[in-house]
Amino acid sequence: MSGISDSEFADIPRVDAIGKVRGTVRFGADDARPEMIHASLATASIARGRIVTLDVSAAEAVPGVHLVLTHENIGPLKTHGFIMGGGYGFQSVQPMESARIAYRGQPIALVAAESLEAAIEGAGLIRATYECEAFNVTLDVPDEDIVNQADTPIKEVIPEVVVGDADGAFAGASVKIDARFTFPPQHQNPMELLATVAEWHGESLVIHESTQAAEAIRHGVATALDISADRIRVVSPFAGGGFGQKNSLQMQTILAVIAARRLKRPVKLVVPRWQVFHDASFRPATRHRLRLGAESSGRMVAAIHEVDAQTSKHDFFPLQYAATTSRLHNIENFRGHERLVRTDVQTPGYMRTPFEHVACFTMESCVDELAYRVGMDPVELRLANDTATDPVTKLPLSSRHVAECLRRGAERFGWHHRLAAPGSMRLPDGAFVGWGVALGTYPCMTVPQIVRLKATDEGDVFIDIGGHEMGQGIRTVLGAIIGRKLGVAPERVIASIGDTLVVPQHLTAGAWGTASVAPAAAHAADALLDALAKLAPAPRRGTPAEMLRAAGRRELAVEIQRKGPGQPDAIYDRLRAGLVSPAGPEYPHSVTFSYIAHFVEVHVEERTRRIRVPRVVSVVDCGRVISPRTAASQVRGGVVWGIGAALREASEVDPRYGGFLNADLAEYVVAVNADVGSIDVEFIDVPDVTFNSVGVKSLGEVALAGVAPAIANAVFHATGRRLRDLPIRIEHVL
Ligand code: MOS
Repeated sequence: MSGISDSEFADIPRVDAIGKVRGTVRFGADDARPEMIHASLATASIARGRIVTLDVSAAEAVPGVHLVLTHENIGPLKTHGFIMGGGYGFQSVQPMESARIAYRGQPIALVAAESLEAAIEGAGLIRATYECEAFNVTLDVPDEDIVNQADTPIKEVIPEVVVGDADGAFAGASVKIDARFTFPPQHQNPMELLATVAEWHGESLVIHESTQAAEAIRHGVATALDISADRIRVVSPFAGGGFGQKNSLQMQTILAVIAARRLKRPVKLVVPRWQVFHDASFRPATRHRLRLGAESSGRMVAAIHEVDAQTSKHDFFPLQYAATTSRLHNIENFRGHERLVRTDVQTPGYMRTPFEHVACFTMESCVDELAYRVGMDPVELRLANDTATDPVTKLPLSSRHVAECLRRGAERFGWHHRLAAPGSMRLPDGAFVGWGVALGTYPCMTVPQIVRLKATDEGDVFIDIGGHEMGQGIRTVLGAIIGRKLGVAPERVIASIGDTLVVPQHLTAGAWGTASVAPAAAHAADALLDALAKLAPAPRRGTPAEMLRAAGRRELAVEIQRKGPGQPDAIYDRLRAGLVSPAGPEYPHSVTFSYIAHFVEVHVEERTRRIRVPRVVSVVDCGRVISPRTAASQVRGGVVWGIGAALREASEVDPRYGGFLNADLAEYVVAVNADVGSIDVEFIDVPDVTFNSVGVKSLGEVALAGVAPAIANAVFHATGRRLRDLPIRIEHVL
């Protein structure tokens, strides 16, 4: 190993930073082909029913309009299936496959034109009449629309979490908390909109799209159009944010592909923000009852977590809230019960930290309440309920540094200055000061990889690997891992990711990106070093380029495979087929989660009751940190999101008309610069080499887990109000 020290890798800049700042990085909709056609969608104005008549004549008459696609002329479509049901789509329904309308905002026509302006004008001139049916868009539905998850096929994959005798232990507990919570639907709003550029070359198809799941798009389109996946290439080098919204085949892709085939020209379809609210997944509305039982010493003995979560009428979105509440603390008796509430919406899905953010809110609010009931400091109470064993499986946890997160966070924050009584801390201007703490956790998963690594005698290293860059810094991680192993500068590591032409591109989500690419890349680098050492004539030691030159070779390549612990070899077939194939967090001999402790200060202004969050300290146990700069950035992003989740974000539903009302960034209020104060991030940075050879766990999603309850606990400390419905607004603390 030559030249590059560990300290030089300690804080490498993002390898794609300069390209992003200069605008040379290409996102999906940046692609501009010669002769490109623009498309725009018209959408349904009813919440449920069917189209009776569809008048496209005015749209067709707009100068420059070449094609109007509707259910009447789109041709046969096979079902691509639901990503969590063995398929590829964010939902099983494909718009325009029939006259049926399943939700307000569902596309009813695509207008393709020479210019974007003509396409938009044409889409605005589509006239439909409908037969309307009764519908529901809230959790208040008739009983027959509420389904126990355990009565659906999901139970084969996600059984209800039942450990010990929760009801008996709760009944006998000396301290009982019984709390109900509600959370609104929320929408991811990545800066980059959903967009596709579809381009046919004879019988082959190239799709440019920013996605987290290039292979799912490829196989989903192949399935829907009944053509061979070999004819399709999906290219997605960068995505301008994903957060679970781009985790599968989206509804616009197939429409753009069909329009491009009809017109024999490339078609670009960018879904505007207001349509994205209706035609991509979102965090479903949920309501919860959490009962927590403890001894007067503070030892927690029982928890019962009951959840109702919104799903669509056409798919069951699999719920995993109890998987989190059962594991945050050492609770011997636990019972989870999850029910799906069928509503007339698009299928909800995985918005960043999908279950854990909400589940941690319920548990960590109750734990804070318990601390007041038993008269213990909330940090001490959590330390007293720590564990090294997974409470559900009783397997060892491969690592859990919750105590260190709490102790270091308390010290950085100055927690020992806290006065326990609510309302007891004030600023000179009279504002109430609240200090709150909460834990977060997120499972550690990993996905199979097929990796090709090639070194050249000029010093470049090329890696083909499965992964998608949506801002989290996957190329920087690869540059750091490969660069350090091979002794080359990170910028000489050229990664091909998000391109189905190179190697299979598994969905990048679930915070498994680094824990999947880092160990696989390290394995490939070791294989390359072995192969270099075996070259003849025997090369001297040095960089791969030096060794290649000594051996008189231009280049050398290796290919390796890596799968998760306990996965069968058949997992590679699933990988090649574009199916979701993660392992974990339960492995054959251990269980792996990441953890975080958030300490939050809020100020509640005395007169206006405005809530501010001037200061957050977050200490993270995510195993080894490969790229401190992008990792800290992930955590800050998660904290900002948590501020939004606690105090701002809600998708407003109108039960009279269906759909979502505040479908733009003016009215869907997220946390902005002025809402964010200091965010101090520290990593425990202890490698978990039981989980993988590099020692990395998950990070991107655990960052958000626990932020919102820490804020709510701080609001309680400031005001004495225990608020269990998000978002918390001024009127709740008047
Ligand atoms: Mo993430 S919500 O699994 O993309």
